Amino acid sequence: MELKRRNFLAAGAAIAASVPFADALAAGADGHLPSEQWQTAWMDGTPFEKSTLSAGAPVLQAPGDTTMGITWEIRPDADGTPQTVIAAVEYATRMDFSDAKTVTMSRDGKRLVTSSSRYRARVCMVRLTGLEANTAYYYRTITQAVDGDSAVGAPEKSPVYRFTTFGPRPAPGSDVSFAVVNDPHAHFDTWKRIVPKIAELKPSVVIYNGDLSSWTSSADQMVRDIFAPIRNGEGASIPIMYSPGNHDSRGGWSRNRHQVLMPRSGAERGTRFEALLHNYAVRLGDLAMIGLDTGEDKADYIWGGESDFDGQNRLQTEWLKEVLERPDIKSAKQIVIFTHIPLWAPGSDDVQPGMEPHYYTYCQFLCKRYWEPLLNKANVRLVVSAHTHYREHGAKYLAQGARTWHQLIGGGPCIGGSEDATVIYGKMQPDGRLKVEVYSIGQRKNVDGGYAYDSRSGETVAFDYEPRPASVRT
Ligand SMILES: [Fe+2]
Ligand SMILES: [Fe+2]
Repeated sequence: MELKRRNFLAAGAAIAASVPFADALAAGADGHLPSEQWQTAWMDGTPFEKSTLSAGAPVLQAPGDTTMGITWEIRPDADGTPQTVIAAVEYATRMDFSDAKTVTMSRDGKRLVTSSSRYRARVCMVRLTGLEANTAYYYRTITQAVDGDSAVGAPEKSPVYRFTTFGPRPAPGSDVSFAVVNDPHAHFDTWKRIVPKIAELKPSVVIYNGDLSSWTSSADQMVRDIFAPIRNGEGASIPIMYSPGNHDSRGGWSRNRHQVLMPRSGAERGTRFEALLHNYAVRLGDLAMIGLDTGEDKADYIWGGESDFDGQNRLQTEWLKEVLERPDIKSAKQIVIFTHIPLWAPGSDDVQPGMEPHYYTYCQFLCKRYWEPLLNKANVRLVVSAHTHYREHGAKYLAQGARTWHQLIGGGPCIGGSEDATVIYGKMQPDGRLKVEVYSIGQRKNVDGGYAYDSRSGETVAFDYEPRPASVRT
């Protein structure tokens, strides 16, 4: 009974995390649904703590106007072998599921979705499509064990969670916000400070801005690095968008990361850009968010001939040209770009004569050459980056290149010094400004900072800096 009570409370947190969504049936002013309405739905499900199949709550990935990715991790069996299951998601606009639809996970007509191979990630992935924009949906996962070719036991339904699709017209009064996590490198002590901050901020979306891992050798390792920190319910109502980091491409199993980090839908990528699995360009209220993959930080030839990040950068350049002309992106009051590697570095604005291609930011210059003119033309105000593990606001570079945009770099776990981890939180204002706060959650005695960026229609990129005591110290 105690376990049920705890999960009941966790459900409240999950629903509350999606509070800005003001469709909210008879939601109260604070967004909490009347408990008698959602308690039954929640209590009907099997919480993952009691499940023999699900290792955690679902994690939403790669959201869009009319689509949502839903992923969840399957427990290995007693001897560590991945279990084989069939999987589906049931979703509805009504909390009582009276208008529910079900999407099964299948491929080539087969519904067996995880295999007993230790080399395959035990993650179920279901993509919902054909959804209405700016609309709240309730959902639960359905998982059933398979023995040989036959399903066994009863299908297991998860508790009910809720998400809201993206789109330009969220319900009046809804928050439009993002929180950025960068460079955790599987430092779980850092994650322990990141996750409560996200739960406190309740952003509309969490940006994983790269270097989730350091070197990936196995399916289990990547599942642990991606799912373990957020599988207790935080990711069930707040979706993740992912911009790859250079370290995410390292290690033999990293090529399979799409088995854990859900790619964008094929329809969103289109045939021309099919290879760009994780690039995103989405609109939420007045805000457009674009994710680019800066790839490796060193020149391609250094990786023994197996890398073609320059080819990917050129393809992304064509993609970026197109999405910046898309009506929903072009009409946004703000466009924020997310890249793991910063597009320029302190003290250097381009490849210098004799610069060593092993230099840790060599490749940023190539990305900058391709993308900077496009970002200037689109009057982009802000690029949010990572990679250096030291927080920095690059306003001083604005004058050097006549750029329209600032660069804000989030800090990360220590690399030879004290930890400087941050959570960057951006929130759209009614006047089209974007306010950004940088929360210091590391061990370094840094201060939090606040910035505000004018709407793209303004003539300047005016910003304020408001240092204040760090909000979280450990
Ligand atoms: Fe890193
Ligand atoms: Fe990095």
